Amino acid sequence: MKQTLPSAAGPIGIFDSGYGGLTILSKIREALPQYDYIYLGDNARAPYGTRSFEIVYEFTLQAVTKLFEMGCHLVILACNTASAKALRNIQMNDLPRLDPMRRVLGVIRPTVECIGSITQSRHVGVLATAGTIKSESYPLEVHKLFPDIKVSGEACPLWVSLVENNEAQGEGSDYFIRKNINNLLIKDTEIDTVILGCTHFPLLLPKIQQYMPDGITTVTQGELVADSLKDYLHRHPEMDRKCTKGGRCVYRTTESEEKFTESASTFLNESIRVERIEL
Ligand code: DGL
Repeated sequence: MKQTLPSAAGPIGIFDSGYGGLTILSKIREALPQYDYIYLGDNARAPYGTRSFEIVYEFTLQAVTKLFEMGCHLVILACNTASAKALRNIQMNDLPRLDPMRRVLGVIRPTVECIGSITQSRHVGVLATAGTIKSESYPLEVHKLFPDIKVSGEACPLWVSLVENNEAQGEGSDYFIRKNINNLLIKDTEIDTVILGCTHFPLLLPKIQQYMPDGITTVTQGELVADSLKDYLHRHPEMDRKCTKGGRCVYRTTESEEKFTESASTFLNESIRVERIEL
């Protein structure tokens, strides 16, 4: 059944399983401060990275539908796991049914587009969730644009939980961060560029940089996604007109408001207010 969605212009929706998308949101807001945004974190059901394809797709579709109902015409999946496992299906199967004029964009493509000009050795590593690594989305997307680049991946199944449980600065995280970085670099000793292919990982950046050997470039996605969105809105004035511009940002979570407010305020370095919703 075709749903009735609000047709008036609305905010840009930014979705992640939890806090990770905040790293993308803050860079997007720096680059495009004039727009309105709704951030939605499905913290109650995070992490997504260890969940099956079907479940990540189902949860992501629920979130996208909710953001459409809240007035968004454009939604960014600020989550690699959702981009890897759900984006294509949503674009192909669900948008035509929900509203063919709305758009859902991911974070993998804008990251991959920049990689060719960063690596010198043409050997690239990816640190991401188990779901993103298993989907092979990074090697597939990189090889479409740069067939000469060798891509090696390492799943870091515990890193998202460290962030979601406020352990990003804790001693326990050192063990896992060192171990996964070493595992990746053993797979290919010529790697000179490592993509943090999970939006939660920049929140672990001080420790990642501590264990990443000198000479290896660590690529975070926030600025790449922000630049790509800026370019997209420039190329699509019809979408730009459907995005309201008041410089506001509201936050929604599926978890408790207290927990989200405390952690998100720390990650963003500003105090925010959030409302709990159900998907
Ligand atoms: N921020 C999500 C990503 O970029 C984390 C996924 C998860 O919840 O495991 O993949």
